[in-house]
Amino acid sequence: MGEITNVTEYQAIAKEKLPKMVYDYYASGAEDQWTLAENRNAFSRILFRPRILIDVSRIDMTTTVLGFKISMPIMIAPTAMQKMAHPDGEYATARAASSAGTIMTLSSWATSSVEEVASTGPGIRFFQLYVYKDRNVVAQLVRRAERAGFKAIALTVDTPRLGRRESDIKNRFVLPPGLTLKNFEGLDLGKMDEANDSGLASYVAGQIDRTLSWKDVKWLQSITSMPILVKGVLTAEDARIAVQSGAAGIIVSNHGARQLDYVPSTIMALEEVVKGAQGRIPVFLDGGVRRGTDVFKALALGAAGIFIGRPVVFSLAAEGEAGVRKVLQMLRDEFELTMALSGCRSLSEITRNHVVTEWDAPRGLPAPRL
Ligand code: FNR
Repeated sequence: MGEITNVTEYQAIAKEKLPKMVYDYYASGAEDQWTLAENRNAFSRILFRPRILIDVSRIDMTTTVLGFKISMPIMIAPTAMQKMAHPDGEYATARAASSAGTIMTLSSWATSSVEEVASTGPGIRFFQLYVYKDRNVVAQLVRRAERAGFKAIALTVDTPRLGRRESDIKNRFVLPPGLTLKNFEGLDLGKMDEANDSGLASYVAGQIDRTLSWKDVKWLQSITSMPILVKGVLTAEDARIAVQSGAAGIIVSNHGARQLDYVPSTIMALEEVVKGAQGRIPVFLDGGVRRGTDVFKALALGAAGIFIGRPVVFSLAAEGEAGVRKVLQMLRDEFELTMALSGCRSLSEITRNHVVTEWDAPRGLPAPRL
């Protein structure tokens, strides 16, 4: 194998290394996986309008997220069960994020607990929350995350039921022996250890609260002082309600195309959500970000930053912590190069005019000659 030169290359390596059940769980989308392909394809329909002859000898990629300064607008999305990818699992991801000076979001369904991840050392970390039917369990977990130094809650709102991921059904997906959902260890919540379809789908059906609604965002805010990011918004209508409900931010996400198939790619939904938020709260994006150019496009369309999901588990499978570090480094380098070649020296210089999309009115066409 030659040198790895881009983020996408880790997927093939992970596929070779991982058991089929695990690889399929990480890679899959829902049903026809139309949205899965679209999350990538849509980026290729956005082109640049670079500006030239600007002194780009110094590029500043730093930014502030919910008041926390980070080295670049590239963060880590929550992905469940990282110890299936590598024995170091979430520990490796936490260390890689921290050494890159960026934020890691820990999944509720991590194979390491909030306390264990905190024990890896300093770092800015968010906690992703699934709301269980048993609200005492939720309240306890939120308190533990806060005590462990987590700085925000990413409340996942697109999963009242699990999307239909057909390879997980075929594979009878379950958590491999020896691993547990560490944040729930010792609680009598049922395990994800046997199933006649997808073990995870059954687990969600048993445990996750389908009644979750906007009033619960207020409830959640009443039991924690951590700011709440609403993860899974795809429309301007919901962006407005998120603002009214006191959310500190929005993550435009289709859950890596694993929930409702045939929703648009997140990069195409982004602008309408940004409009809905009216500049009152920051809007972030995840889904299909694999290149520095993708990061730039998201920022040009109004995102305050992006998160990556699968690149983390695939690089973890290939090379553990070193792999995740390399993914973050490659995206950083590509993003910096994109800024330089577009004539942007800081994030605030990235504007809507630096990109042109399919849905823009045609510009600069020659006037028709009669
Ligand atoms: C996820 N995602 C996710 N989201 C969440 O809120 N809680 C979770 O536990 C998980 N788990 C999870 C596992 C795996 C294997 C994947 C691929 C995704 C969704 C994740 O946070 C994010 O929205 C997407 O992964 C972003 O898309 P990309 O970067 O994977 O294309």
